Amino acid sequence: MYPSLLRALLFVALGSFTAATAAEGDSIRLTIDAARPGARIDRNIFGQFAEHLGRGLYEGVWVGPESKIPNTRGIRNDVVAALKAIKVPNVRWPGGCFADEYHWRNGIGPRDKRPATLNPNWGGVIEPNTFGTHEFMDFVQQIGADAYISINVGSGTPAEAADWLEYLTTPQPTELAKQRAANGHPAPYPVALLGIGNESWGCGGSMTPDEYVNHLRVYARYARNYNTAQPMRRIAVGPDGGDTGYTEAVMKAWKNKTWAWDIEGISLHSYTVVKWPPAFKATGFGESDYATILKATLNMESLVSTHSAVMDQYDPQKKIALVVDEWGAWLAATPGSPEGFLEQQNSQRDALVAALNLNIFARHADRVRGANIAQMVNVLQAMIFTKQEKMVLTPTYHVFHMYVPFQDATLVPVELAAGTYKSGEIELPRVDVIAARDSAGKLWLALTNLDPNRAADIELAGARVSRANGQTLVAPKFDSVNTFEAPDVVAPKPFTAKASGNKLPLKLAPASVTVVSLE
Ligand code: AHR
Repeated sequence: MYPSLLRALLFVALGSFTAATAAEGDSIRLTIDAARPGARIDRNIFGQFAEHLGRGLYEGVWVGPESKIPNTRGIRNDVVAALKAIKVPNVRWPGGCFADEYHWRNGIGPRDKRPATLNPNWGGVIEPNTFGTHEFMDFVQQIGADAYISINVGSGTPAEAADWLEYLTTPQPTELAKQRAANGHPAPYPVALLGIGNESWGCGGSMTPDEYVNHLRVYARYARNYNTAQPMRRIAVGPDGGDTGYTEAVMKAWKNKTWAWDIEGISLHSYTVVKWPPAFKATGFGESDYATILKATLNMESLVSTHSAVMDQYDPQKKIALVVDEWGAWLAATPGSPEGFLEQQNSQRDALVAALNLNIFARHADRVRGANIAQMVNVLQAMIFTKQEKMVLTPTYHVFHMYVPFQDATLVPVELAAGTYKSGEIELPRVDVIAARDSAGKLWLALTNLDPNRAADIELAGARVSRANGQTLVAPKFDSVNTFEAPDVVAPKPFTAKASGNKLPLKLAPASVTVVSLE
């Protein structure tokens, strides 16, 4: 354990941070401008992504009704309870690359009659199709989330997509609605979000921007929502990282659109990966890796700004949302895990990765109105790991839990001059912070101390507050992880602070994430 963090942890344990580990006089002034509220932080930036990939759905969510693992209609109860607690706003499904090879008819009807197909993208395994449309809709309803369905543009047809939407959403007694009723669901399903393809520049068909736009017009026309009780937002495929080709082409097409089609969003995919294939270790890494990954993740700021600027040229009123529907750390796979299953551990560093990205999305709340971390269970930067009947929550899960008060809260501007954290050639902001006011009028702060060697003494000024209450996520080491044997190594601890005079001191442990409400 690095000594400064050991000291900080002792202070947490003793319920006091007063003997700060930062140098004397090193306090950092934070000002909140509560009189100048910003945009609403759309709860959909806390969305999840669940692809047919490895153990993400099979075992991670679906165990089948006959399983000894406690379940409701085949969906594991422990995972549902954990996801309900973080108030998941929406789940994107069935992919990912899988979506552009998925044929929805394989996943309806009696489960024992469904065909075995292949999953060529992810390990070439058999796809049993036991988790299909009804199982997914049951799952999102159990966790209280909206459905974000990605239709197959790469290898499907407009007719297949149109039929799926009719099957899902029509209240009228059509042949497809009768099939839906015969399969157990007479009422139409709500589909809040529709992805029109996935990574059409890559695994979704290797299309040029103009080729994709030709497909987009057709699919956006025919994949209709018939459920008037649930408006549906259509999300077009957008950029791969910093390439603005898709952003330009889709936004230009939208600006010149006719009455016959429309979209409400454009997606951005960007992983924190440094270089392909992903080689950065998920645990057992040193400070240089720690700083390199945090630097890479902060690049999200420039990506969002770049694409927002392009979008502003065509859509200054910001009608079209930028939806970062795949993001997160993509690290070296867990040694011994099956090829193509994308299993990786999740450390305190990844908790900081999550917090920093959520802060970026919140600061761009006027344009970024959706995001989906990849992926929900057992895959990439997951919330949850399962091993048969066991379940463990990751450090990233805890960040999502701590950030619940920011869902649909109103951004409040802050000013902070915290200086930098340096590691070798890398220089990063030392502390990152967002503030927001919830619908009950309460002010919330989320503070990330990026520096793994120094605590940060924040002094809040400019707001009349007497105390702060909340939680802090600190860990013995920045690469600490939770395991099935030791599930609570990284877990939030209570955090309180009292004002003295008109200043509120907030002592942030090294490499920590803290969320507090102000009273
Ligand atoms: O999340 C894993 C994969 O990453 C998705 O299937 C694909 O869309 C992206 O390249």
